[in-house]
Amino acid sequence: MRPFDGRRVLLGVTGGIASYKSVMLARLLTQGGAHVDVVMTRASQEFVGAITFEAVTGRKSYSEIFGPGNALDHIRLAREAAVFVVAPATADFLARAAHGHADDLLTASLLANTAPVLLVPAMNDRMWANAQTAKNVAHLRDLGYSVLDPDAGPLAVGEGTGPGRMPEPETILTQIARLLERRGTLAGRRIVVTAGATREAIDPVRFISNHSTGRMGVAIAEAAWRRGADVRLVAGHLDVAVSAGPYVHSVDSAADMRALVADELPSADVLVMAAAPADFRPARAATRKIKKASGGAGDPAAPITLAQTEDILKSTIALRKPGAVIVGFALETEDLLSNGEAKLKQKSLDMIVVNSAVEKGAGFGGETNRVTLLIAGGQAEDVPLMPKTELADVILDRVEGLLNGR
Ligand code: CTP
Repeated sequence: MRPFDGRRVLLGVTGGIASYKSVMLARLLTQGGAHVDVVMTRASQEFVGAITFEAVTGRKSYSEIFGPGNALDHIRLAREAAVFVVAPATADFLARAAHGHADDLLTASLLANTAPVLLVPAMNDRMWANAQTAKNVAHLRDLGYSVLDPDAGPLAVGEGTGPGRMPEPETILTQIARLLERRGTLAGRRIVVTAGATREAIDPVRFISNHSTGRMGVAIAEAAWRRGADVRLVAGHLDVAVSAGPYVHSVDSAADMRALVADELPSADVLVMAAAPADFRPARAATRKIKKASGGAGDPAAPITLAQTEDILKSTIALRKPGAVIVGFALETEDLLSNGEAKLKQKSLDMIVVNSAVEKGAGFGGETNRVTLLIAGGQAEDVPLMPKTELADVILDRVEGLLNGR
């Protein structure tokens, strides 16, 4: 089954240069199984042609509110939409939408619509920063519309860089997926997820770290966000991108990660500790770069003395909200289950995800994992080899089971 199979998406396109990216968005949605009805404003047709959208969606695109046989298009299109997306949304469109105008097919359809709405502004950075635009956006958000913040980066040629760019189609797609998510089973829950490797400074240019890429934790954070949760991702060093959605706190060392987890934990319904915080750090980080031949203190020939970092799970037990579900991971090279059981108890966890650091297709780095889930007081559950993105959903299904049993 494809992610958007059979879902009707109304895609409004207004007159901004970013509308060329909307063609790709329409194509990705269609490839994902959606039926995409494109509604173009007059101005948008100066930038991209209706035929281009018809070619990628395989469906008629719409623009005129008046015309024989069109009279009720705005009502029908709005009624059939499972989600209403406007990308790009120009400053002018935001102003008209904020004031309830209905003077073209797109604004009239928006007024007739009851489906979730996603507006994706794109404009010059000064127009985005203008107080009038900010007011319009705040009002649209008050009305219950989701409004994405534009990306910062290069604007139209000669316009320099700044916040105003339309986010990439893949980012918009993730947002649409959340609005279409039927389950929304984690709506109203706050989930803290940690991911990636920490870096422990040796001197200002060197550090100790590990091979964690953050892929598993990021997959869990994104899946929880798609289920409607308010997600706080405490991210060490990541080798993978995080899609818009989870709120990301970037940290460097295990001590920084501990401090952020300690801040977030009292309001968290769930903590998933998927990060690989370093267990050891240099006892003292040199304040200056250690030179090759210094001869004195910090001479590279001298051994680096290590100290243990604090265990984040253990040292924050007292900060947990009563009833919160706490999930840890265990990466082991031998005696997987007995080591996992021991960590489950020592760290006072509700569930531990045990994986092997040596098995092919499991553990660090790759796209897949094969794990055993241990739930406190329950049976071990072997989960077959699968992509980490799918495993994230299996883990969240168990987390929901635990939450709902409380
Ligand atoms: N963890 C933690 N704080 C640390 C190190 C690990 O909270 N300083 C968490 C990990 O995020 C994971 C769990 O503890 O959820 C188990 O991590 P793991 O590295 O498997 O075990 P350790 O407790 O570090 O024990 P050991 O290295 O001896 O196997």
